[in-house]
Amino acid sequence: MTKDKHIIILRFSSLGDVAILIPLLRCIIDKHKNLKITIVTLGQYNALFNEFKDINIVNVEKDSKHKGLPGIYKLFNELRKLKPTAIADLHAVLRTNILEVFFRFIFIKYKRINKGRKEKAKLCRKKNKVFSPLTPTIYRYKEVFRKLGFEVNLENHIYPLKPNFPFKIEFINKKYQKKLIGIAPFSAHKGKTYPLDLMQKVIAFLQREYVVILFGGGKKETQQIKIWERAYKNVKFFSDKISFNDELNLYKLKSELILMNDKASLKIILDGKESMLAIDSSKTILDWALDNEIDAPYSCQGGACCTCIARLKNGEVEMSENSILSQEEIDEGLILTCISTPKTKNILIDYDDI
Ligand code: FES
Repeated sequence: MTKDKHIIILRFSSLGDVAILIPLLRCIIDKHKNLKITIVTLGQYNALFNEFKDINIVNVEKDSKHKGLPGIYKLFNELRKLKPTAIADLHAVLRTNILEVFFRFIFIKYKRINKGRKEKAKLCRKKNKVFSPLTPTIYRYKEVFRKLGFEVNLENHIYPLKPNFPFKIEFINKKYQKKLIGIAPFSAHKGKTYPLDLMQKVIAFLQREYVVILFGGGKKETQQIKIWERAYKNVKFFSDKISFNDELNLYKLKSELILMNDKASLKIILDGKESMLAIDSSKTILDWALDNEIDAPYSCQGGACCTCIARLKNGEVEMSENSILSQEEIDEGLILTCISTPKTKNILIDYDDI
């Protein structure tokens, strides 16, 4: 069948946010049979899409081929050659903002997710919290597709048949009669990782009733996970023994839930007013402030004028090279917010204390 429309979906990371897309895709494909779909994501998440035979996947190589502005332009050219009719930006980060400019320039319909940063900030701030339920991410994704003309009803979602256990992991199925809980204790962004001492308490508690499967990637993370695996009877780590695909099948068949890390927080003090934001390390402190309608001072936005100076009172940031602040001033806690990105959770920035 010839597909008359082609939508490109941008969702590069992270695992949880990419995985949430799956039920929505099932509904879209079921309803819009004539729609061609391309997913743009990191290669490590390809296995998530194994059940979709007709979906095209483009992998972003953000540390090599698609690095920096020239890399994003290269990615744009690769995607443009696929002749999309619309772009669904479910990521909405700096990289996709730039892609949006390119696509709009060639008149391709482009819609981006509303991440609800204002509502999240109101919920996270210290005083006058607004306890309104947040819209779940899957409904935010759905809204993007609605704006592009592809209505879906998530009530119609049907789970696919459970997979057969591959021979390699059959022993796990037989051995563990308890339900599983999957936990990803680490985040790609250091600032989003739940403190490890608290995570250890969560793991210790849950493993009393469940088999806790931990997953993670890097060398340091694996070392920590193996310590927990040795320390607790019902904590297991399979990422170095079975493929990610097999691991996913294991979760599909036996897991109760999967826990992922959530956002870090950034408190900003400006003109005596405190604002609390839910953040990650995808952009600078100044951008987080401006995107949340905080009237933070700035001018050059390139670390050259000092207008955006503030004092870092808690947490850590990564400040790219600057020609303004001396080492002494940096040691005192002064930062240029336009070139500083969050590195840890719970960051406090004071613009008034300069
Ligand atoms: S705005 Fe000029 S140094 Fe930050």
